[in-house]
Amino acid sequence: MSEMKYDLSEVMITEEQIAQMVEESAAAINADYGTEEELVVISVLNGAFMFTADLLRALKMPIRLEFVQCSSYSGTNSTGSINMKKDFDYDITGKNVLIVEDIIDTGNTLSKLKKLLQDRGAKSVKLCTAFDKPDRRVNDLQADYNGIVIPDEFIVGYGLDFNERHRDLKEIRIVKEIK
Ligand code: IMP
Ligand code: MG
Repeated sequence: MSEMKYDLSEVMITEEQIAQMVEESAAAINADYGTEEELVVISVLNGAFMFTADLLRALKMPIRLEFVQCSSYSGTNSTGSINMKKDFDYDITGKNVLIVEDIIDTGNTLSKLKKLLQDRGAKSVKLCTAFDKPDRRVNDLQADYNGIVIPDEFIVGYGLDFNERHRDLKEIRIVKEIK
């Protein structure tokens, strides 16, 4: 895979479309949670760093920000374990928790992360993603704030990488293999 020759497509999703998505997601989150109670935002590294930075500046409630980095062992076992490469130790008992992710693909990682946070005693655990690839889902996971829905293509930019490249792009492009 790392030896693969590829090009990037024309712009698939523009900076303006992304900005509008951020605004709409933030407005929905602000409407749902109000301005009083603390919201614990769990940002999933590395891909969600840019979306998290934009989203948080549009939220109106008190925010506690934590970062995680995790992977799931793929396969059919949806109750399988999650590998927390980076975890946090803030006590989320009785708190509203919002997971912020770059993209939901199969949904494997997120369904396990969601369960882990519920098991830690959160009052609620919701999911906000910048991009959603529902065609690839292997479970019934659905984001509460699901951003921009895309077809089954591998995308880069706005935090998303291909082999750790192109996270810096302001817009979204598709990785096209050169055969
Ligand atoms: P899943 O939902 O557990 O399959 O994993 C989603 C993770 O895979 C995301 O957080 C991304 O890191 C990565 N991923 C999935 N699709 C893409 C893509 O199109 N571009 C870049 N990363 C992706
Ligand atoms: Mg990721």
